[in-house]
Amino acid sequence: MLINNMCKTSEKTLVLVGFMGAGKSTIARVLAKLSGRPLVDLDALIVQQQGCTIPTIFADQGEDSFRRYETEALRSLNETTPIVLATGGGIVGRQENWQLMRRLGLVIYLRASWETLRARLVGSSDRPLASSDRSEADIVNLLQQRVPLYEQADLIIDTDGREVEDVVHEIMTRVKD
Ligand code: S3P
Repeated sequence: MLINNMCKTSEKTLVLVGFMGAGKSTIARVLAKLSGRPLVDLDALIVQQQGCTIPTIFADQGEDSFRRYETEALRSLNETTPIVLATGGGIVGRQENWQLMRRLGLVIYLRASWETLRARLVGSSDRPLASSDRSEADIVNLLQQRVPLYEQADLIIDTDGREVEDVVHEIMTRVKD
């Protein structure tokens, strides 16, 4: 019984959520490799499906269009095999995205402090919502609005000051619990 449950859980798709700069893509890459699951990056999928970059989508069509594409990309994943899915930081804003993510598998919040995120976001040019023309106060405000949403995840993993491999091992251990 215990072994069956373990297998069931460990066969799930793992959906990584968290703010910009939380390390979702990096952690997803290592997690995919070590857990033997294919990696899907939702932002990359949107770029592929729409044929243009994320800053271009924001600039030409606006954030609402991007959010629509994000939900469409999520809906297009009807994986029967388990994957590791790296999402964009704003995926948590739409309730329907939560239904789609939960249908796919286990939602894991990679939590990081503002100090950590800020250091990683310096010089980031491909993130319209963290670009240099945004004030720090605006970005912190966005983070504060989103934290309660991220906290709806099935698992919360603290990442501050930790090596990627260490975080990945914690995820792999906890999804087997
Ligand atoms: C966004 C985060 C980005 C990307 C888009 C919007 C957000 O992904 O989806 O620029 O709203 O937080 P990362 O979290 O991978 O930077």
